[in-house]
Amino acid sequence: LMIRRPPRSTPKPSSAASDVYKRQQFDKETLKRIFEITDKIRDNPIPMLKNSGFLMSTLFYEPSTRTRFSFEAAMKKLGGDVISTESATNFSSAAKGERLEDSVRTVAAYSDVIVLRHSQEGAAEAAALACPDTPIINAGDGEGQHPTQALIDLYTIRRECGGVNGKSIALVGDLAHSRTIHSLLYLLAQYKDIGHLYLVSPEFVKLKRELLLHVAEKDIPLTISADLKEVAPKVDVIYQTRLQKERFDQNDFAMYQKYHRQADYRIDADILKLMKPDARILHPLPRVNELLPEVDNDPRAAYFRQVENGLYIRMALLVMLLSDTDFILNQ
Ligand code: ASP
Ligand code: CP
Repeated sequence: LMIRRPPRSTPKPSSAASDVYKRQQFDKETLKRIFEITDKIRDNPIPMLKNSGFLMSTLFYEPSTRTRFSFEAAMKKLGGDVISTESATNFSSAAKGERLEDSVRTVAAYSDVIVLRHSQEGAAEAAALACPDTPIINAGDGEGQHPTQALIDLYTIRRECGGVNGKSIALVGDLAHSRTIHSLLYLLAQYKDIGHLYLVSPEFVKLKRELLLHVAEKDIPLTISADLKEVAPKVDVIYQTRLQKERFDQNDFAMYQKYHRQADYRIDADILKLMKPDARILHPLPRVNELLPEVDNDPRAAYFRQVENGLYIRMALLVMLLSDTDFILNQ
């Protein structure tokens, strides 16, 4: 559940300020509300935060193209403002050895919401604890979670396929380390009417036990496979992921090198031929070798539409954290 914040004494977010650091905070009702607000904003992007003086900080200790730019674009399109550093690792006082908690408390003194990306799992939760009066949004914590990406992914599946009920969905690639897969699976596991879930990966990056057990105990039909060619014709959605190079340590880096150029888990024109005519390919991006540009012009390639959805989802989240959603919903 979203954590409700006590009212603040200084002029601060008017509605319930919450943290967003793991997908378990979103029940189906909350998801419905987020998607409804996203649709409204997409149709009519009003600068709800104009003249509010609200500032968002982006504190990114890992590289990013989409998450940082879309959050910053979202805040600016809403009429709010942004403070940031190109790399919190190199250009904040983390470079002098400052603890994350101290940096976050400091930045919280200057801003109304903090978007945090960090290489350590649990970093966003630790930041939220250190900083109870300012909402923290997890923009990816190590191999933990990436909850706002999962919102984008689910929203995209709904928009592209008309919902998840009865749909067969394959999650492909680095199931062990992809934080987007982790957050998305927790979300999907709430929808018991999903037709079938396929987990497709080589053995060395299979889904970790805890999450597998969580999904297996739901009533959703589940197949674990190592064969993308076999699964591709059966599914309505392929959610592809990159081998998360930065999460491999020295011991298993040889496995990374062995697999990352192999064609077995790559989506190319041949896989496209096997897929249903109205299926969709999603990818959180960035892609490396696992999804070839030759696929991009096929209407089933939904990943750049997914990118655009990210802007609207993040505008909706910022409005929910900082402003009045009734105004939007009652339009
Ligand atoms: N951009 C996503 C993430 O930060 C996926 C990826 O990097 O492969 O988790
Ligand atoms: N999808 C995603 O998180 O992309 P970036 O790593 O580029 O932010």
